[in-house]
Amino acid sequence: DAQPSLQGRTVVVTAGGTREPLDPVRYLGNRSSGKQGFALAEQAAAAGAQVHLVAGITEAEPPTGHARISVERIETAEELQEAVRRRSAGADALIMAAAVADFRPADYAQAKIKKTDDGQNPVITLERNPDILADLVEHRRSSGEGPPVIVGFAAETGGGDDDPMKLAQQKLQRKGCDLLVLNQVGENLVFGRDETEIHVLASAAAQSALGESEPVSWRGTKAEAAGVVVARTAQ
Ligand code: C5P
Repeated sequence: DAQPSLQGRTVVVTAGGTREPLDPVRYLGNRSSGKQGFALAEQAAAAGAQVHLVAGITEAEPPTGHARISVERIETAEELQEAVRRRSAGADALIMAAAVADFRPADYAQAKIKKTDDGQNPVITLERNPDILADLVEHRRSSGEGPPVIVGFAAETGGGDDDPMKLAQQKLQRKGCDLLVLNQVGENLVFGRDETEIHVLASAAAQSALGESEPVSWRGTKAEAAGVVVARTAQ
């Protein structure tokens, strides 16, 4: 098969985790390393795209010195949303690999939260962050504007009665994106590692565009997995 080209296309890739401040020294964060998102940016650039990489907090270093990858750093989900909206205008594809915090502390304490002598523990109230992906899909649906290809990720821990594939199918429907990449995560799985296992699910429209009626699975390095996703983004 000829490698599908992204020559002349613009692709926005988000990577890493968001950090939600609680007080001037503390935050809520997550274990996203940024590796999968960086691999996606590199594969998209290798396929010829101009890539806008929007990176949150990462353990890995973002790709530097690549002529076709620009890197912008953000911390919070709200900053990520602003960057994604700005970068997505006119882009051909958006790949949302970032691990966005679903919740943020409802109140930011201007001074460091202190221990008190009365034995009372502080209570942290959380509020919802915007769902950047779902909002963008909804904006595209209502206005007709936005990236023709929108790719979401689902990190499921599985376990219990949860069937990760079924959860991913539901998430694809709920978010309304074109492709959804499922990976199973946990303490020693995926996060921070170089290997991964992914399943790429496509919406009905994307299925007919791709000529694929079943999810495509891949186990290997994050670079290879990124190639599998980028190839489907290009079609
Ligand atoms: O709902 P869940 O967090 O599992 O969805 C994951 C997908 O949605 C990822 O592509 C992630 O980047 C995106 N997301 C988002 N905004 C949020 C939460 C997740 O765009 N607040």
